[in-house]
Amino acid sequence: MSSPILVIGALGNVGAEVVKQILARGGIVRVADRDVNKLKERFGEAVEAVRFDFTDRSTYEETFRGVKRMFYMRPPHITNIQRDMVPSMDAAKRAGVTHVVFLSLIGIENTKYVPHYKVESYLKEINVQTTFLRCSFFMQNLNTTHRREIRERNEIFVPVGKAKTAFIDARDIGAVAAVVLLEDGHAGRNYDLTGSERLDYWEAANIMSEVLRRRITYRNPNPLNFFIETIHRGTSFMFALVMTGLYTSTRFGMADPMTDEVERLTGRKPILFRQYVMDYKDAWM
Ligand SMILES: NC(=O)c1ccc[n+]([C@@H]2O[C@H](COP(=O)([O-])OP(=O)(O)OC[C@H]3O[C@@H](n4cnc5c(N)ncnc54)[C@H](OP(=O)(O)O)[C@@H]3O)[C@@H](O)[C@H]2O)c1
Repeated sequence: MSSPILVIGALGNVGAEVVKQILARGGIVRVADRDVNKLKERFGEAVEAVRFDFTDRSTYEETFRGVKRMFYMRPPHITNIQRDMVPSMDAAKRAGVTHVVFLSLIGIENTKYVPHYKVESYLKEINVQTTFLRCSFFMQNLNTTHRREIRERNEIFVPVGKAKTAFIDARDIGAVAAVVLLEDGHAGRNYDLTGSERLDYWEAANIMSEVLRRRITYRNPNPLNFFIETIHRGTSFMFALVMTGLYTSTRFGMADPMTDEVERLTGRKPILFRQYVMDYKDAWM
């Protein structure tokens, strides 16, 4: 039997798209996440589902057995890489995984304080072949992390000032990951993935207003106020800190570069922000 492609975080924004795209291209997939019942509900019989928890080593053997290629990601709340991710990278290497496609962050070379930097460095240290998908900000942040403030307050609340962001749709990342995992020639390469338009948050709010037919505004706090209010709204200290750091880097242009890697690798143009809002509009109703 051929070796399955393992997708870690298969219930996540990107992971679920990776699974869909690999299946659409006829690949064999093993999906891994904390809740095996949800995996079965979501993907049915088309995949093999295993329970995997970064923090529970007893789940590693079944997850990595017989796998050569895997999609690997860091759940957003995990900040202690040494404690919570290094053991699974070691286990994957021991089990014979040879190529890891890791969901990383654009501009990572200059943002060494973010956890992805440590993951990239460790994967190189243990000598597995890697492809780092260094992505810009996901459009899907607006229907997940920022969903409530948009739905209930009609505002986007991020400390980004006038900076532009070349938002990418998670569905495009899934399509690129499938290409990289199924075709040869991508090991040892890194791809900076973005959408095909650079928008500031006023422009993003205007597009949302037009599609949703109600006024969405961009509230533009300074980073300190963002940090304090985000914690008051119930976000954990560490997650608020990482978010503040990332949005502050955006404020200084980190998310501004635009590439044509999505089109080059998938053969089709990236999804536009307006299309994304149309496809997800129920999320904010
Ligand atoms: N958002 C952006 O703009 C952006 C841009 C570039 C890079 N990134 C990076 O992309 C990654 C997030 O990707 P995403 O949005 O697809 O993530 P996501 O939607 O938050 O999905 C994370 C998945 O990991 C699972 N998970 C959580 N804790 C786990 C554990 N201990 N063991 C195993 N699985 C666990 C979650 O399951 P549960 O449902 O059980 O929690 C969920 O299915 C982060 O590393 C982020 O920094 C994000």
